[in-house]
Formats: sequence, structure tokens, C-alpha cells
Amino acid sequence: MEVEIAPLAELPDGRGLRVEVNDERIALFRIGDSVHAIGDRCSHAEASLAEGEVFDGEVECPRHGSPFDLTTGEPGSLPATTAVPVYPTAVRDGIVYLTIEGES
Ligand code: FES
Repeated sequence: MEVEIAPLAELPDGRGLRVEVNDERIALFRIGDSVHAIGDRCSHAEASLAEGEVFDGEVECPRHGSPFDLTTGEPGSLPATTAVPVYPTAVRDGIVYLTIEGES
């Protein structure tokens, strides 16, 4: 189902924002006019990826430093070895939407 998240203008550019949708913690990252959404729990030890630093299309886990690709959710180096989920997003009329599995 598609869920309305927030106006694009309310998302910080170049930083993460943690939201909860259907009891799932999701980290949103606005890069200019586009928005990426990945699972917020690092696949290594569950740190909040929304609190990581963003650069070159990746977010660096704030706890042990594994970088996660914002498009694929794949970790680029140890200690994380497993991808985090990726959620489709859309921006229409300045509003950010996210698609997540579940009942509407
Ligand atoms: S908790 Fe993210 S790399 Fe360890």
C-alpha cells in the first residue's frame, strides 16, 4: 500500500529522518528533489541508519561504520553483510509517498 509521509519541504536535505509506518522503522533520505527509503535498523547491530552521515548515495552506519547504498540497501563493507530493505518512494505535488507491504 502507498502511504503519505510528509511534504518534501519538511524533509531535511542530505540527512536522514526516521519514520514509523506499519510498525516498521524506516529511514528516509532526501537528496535534492528525490527521496530514498531504507530500513532504519542496521543489519549488523540495529543502530539507527537515519542518524548516519550521507555521502555519495550511501549512508554510513553511526555505530560501526558500514556504508549502505540508499538505492539497493546493500552494505559496502564490513561489519554489516546483509542488505537492509528498500522501499519505493514517489514525490507528487510536493508530497512524499512510500510504498510498503500490507493492508491498506
Ligand atoms: S550496527 Fe551498523 S555496522 Fe554495526
